[in-house]
Amino acid sequence: MCLLRFAPLEKPEKTNNMKITSATYISSKPRHEQCPTDGRPEYAFIGRSNVGKSSLINALTERRKLALTSSTPGKTLCINHFLINEQWYLVDLPGYGYAQRGKKEMEKLKNMISDYVLQREQLTCLFVLIDIRHDPQKVDLAFLHFLGSNGVPFAIVFTKADKLSNSKIKPAAEKYLQTLKEEWEELPPYFITSSTSKLGREELLAYIDDINKNL
Ligand code: GTP
Ligand code: MG
Repeated sequence: MCLLRFAPLEKPEKTNNMKITSATYISSKPRHEQCPTDGRPEYAFIGRSNVGKSSLINALTERRKLALTSSTPGKTLCINHFLINEQWYLVDLPGYGYAQRGKKEMEKLKNMISDYVLQREQLTCLFVLIDIRHDPQKVDLAFLHFLGSNGVPFAIVFTKADKLSNSKIKPAAEKYLQTLKEEWEELPPYFITSSTSKLGREELLAYIDDINKNL
């Protein structure tokens, strides 16, 4: 059994309506040292290519084109910072596990991601996105294990829930979590979302708001 350190807070009982009054693109950098140095807290989105990281940032901020999205995997290739309400950042990261670009490029992205995740002091919570339609994939489980063994606070965000019928959404998430339970003592906070229907948007924002208020 691994002992994991999950995201710092319990999920809030009630959702509150955090209002996004501003969402501004700040920078797109290949190395975490080149990212903003103002010390504001940041919330980053990671997961396999095409899982919906950039789309979720757009859904959360209700800006359709803030983060660039594509139906072709491998769209996001740098660390992208978006300043929210002049107070905190949403961070869009490249996807992992996308082999199409060749070994060297994959290695580069892998290092970019792991350096960011392990060394970025401002990183307050990492949201690991998982496509709710798929059975647990090795590459995701390995990444979660890497986070756990390095004490990185994270929460799981299931994406694309609109692609399942309502009755299948919860069982799919529970099945996934059951797999995690085989290895871990406790489960991380998790969210079920859809960027298309905005399912889970308020809950995720309330979670971030709660953490921000307790920093
Ligand atoms: P990379 O930057 O390539 O790693 O991908 P990404 O994880 O940022 O994915 P992106 O947001 O670009 O979305 C990939 C594709 O999935 C796009 O065609 C999106 O329209 C689609 N997509 C993302 N989220 C959802 C969702 O919640 N529901 C549905 N139906 N499609 C989604
Ligand atoms: Mg992207």
